[in-house]
Amino acid sequence: MFKTIGDDSKLEVLGLVKTMRTGKKFTFAEVGYGDSQVQVVCRTDEVKELTIGSFVSVVGKKSDLPPGVYSSQTFEITEAKVQILSKGDPDTVSICPPAASAEIRLDRRLYYFRDVEFTEILRLSDVLCQAFRKFFVESKCVEVLPPSFTGVECEGGATLFKLDHPGKSSTEPMPAYLTQSSQFALEYLVPGLGDCFCIAPSYRAEHSHTRRHLTEFTHVEAEWGGIRDFTDHLEKLRSMLQSVVGEFIKLGEKSLKKLGKYEHVVGLLEKTKDIVILTHRDAIEKCRELSIDGPDGKPFGDRDDIPEAQERKLIDTLDKIVFLVKFPREFKSFYMGLDPTDESYVLGCDVEVPGVGEIIGSGVREASFDRLTERLLSAGLKPADYTDYLELRRSGFCQTSGMGLGLGRMLCWLLDKQSIRDVVAFPRFPGYLMP
Ligand code: 4AD
Repeated sequence: MFKTIGDDSKLEVLGLVKTMRTGKKFTFAEVGYGDSQVQVVCRTDEVKELTIGSFVSVVGKKSDLPPGVYSSQTFEITEAKVQILSKGDPDTVSICPPAASAEIRLDRRLYYFRDVEFTEILRLSDVLCQAFRKFFVESKCVEVLPPSFTGVECEGGATLFKLDHPGKSSTEPMPAYLTQSSQFALEYLVPGLGDCFCIAPSYRAEHSHTRRHLTEFTHVEAEWGGIRDFTDHLEKLRSMLQSVVGEFIKLGEKSLKKLGKYEHVVGLLEKTKDIVILTHRDAIEKCRELSIDGPDGKPFGDRDDIPEAQERKLIDTLDKIVFLVKFPREFKSFYMGLDPTDESYVLGCDVEVPGVGEIIGSGVREASFDRLTERLLSAGLKPADYTDYLELRRSGFCQTSGMGLGLGRMLCWLLDKQSIRDVVAFPRFPGYLMP
């Protein structure tokens, strides 16, 4: 945004007027674009039309800041000539002020996008994607671009977005779904590419208005080959978490410090070195010890699913990152590998973190064609709809495990935010599709 004109002493700056202080003789404006900003000093009688929110060109002298004046640059621009390229409406400044209510932040999203704190959060969302990409690239995982339209469900019929995809003839559409997860796409690609990952949207027609559910969310997913046992899988998750949180701190230091969250995230990095592994059976036991009862007010049975609220209470009480592992097979997906020591359990691992709950769903994949067929049938699905997925088990299946992580949920955890709507630029949830 800075352009030197002639010798080093003259500059042109293009940017938005962020703040303005108008004195009798001089006006001081902070002009910025992206993450750089500079103080501009001009004659008040020459900028009578200038308003906050205007996009301007400023040409002036690069001068040292006067003693005792602090600005985002080590210099300011004096004797500035300001040309308004697009005039801002000053009334819009108060539309979504700092610390506006959650309703206003959603209703007036366009203006919330300029909020100083929210802007840093969105920068950190970019930083988190970079941290994941760095980890995957360094571990020789190939990024792929999966499709949004699919022909089959992956995570249960209850949350499927159904739609008509154009068919071969214009009169006969094909039934299709928006993908709930790109897991199958990754699994198909592993035999050719090796380990692969994606950062892509997933869709769930969830009718929940909770602080951690969206109908469209950014899903970081990976599929790893050559997983010999469940411990290998858990080690992958552990090293990914440690590496990504460490890199997030390095790359995001400036923004984290601005938000006052640097120490918080350093504390979370420590927690990644002290992860608790808890089987579903142990978790039930802990719930009983802590008098965390089921939704019917009674203690949990050995094979009960632990609902979200109770799960969060348990994790908040333990105050540690928990790998919740080995679930009763009846409430987990058909593709999860069975525990060889007790086939009534699956080798799944949900990663749970204090304050948020589940951020990762993961596990070892079912490797046997026959068993997968049986499990599709018992889940009420048609094996004929999953021919490629089944076929993969007969031709070069690489003993994979994989994981899916909700980027928004991880950001809530890293930035200590209550709601996923506060860390995602364009949240999509029931009743909300704007802007
Ligand atoms: O546990 P889930 O449903 O697992 C899968 O989709 C697997 N197929 C992933 C895989 O193995 N490749 O979802 C994984 C994660 C959850 O832990 C959560 O963080 C996030 O995706 N997630 C959501 N985030 C926001 N809104 C929703 N409605 C979400 N549903 C899942």
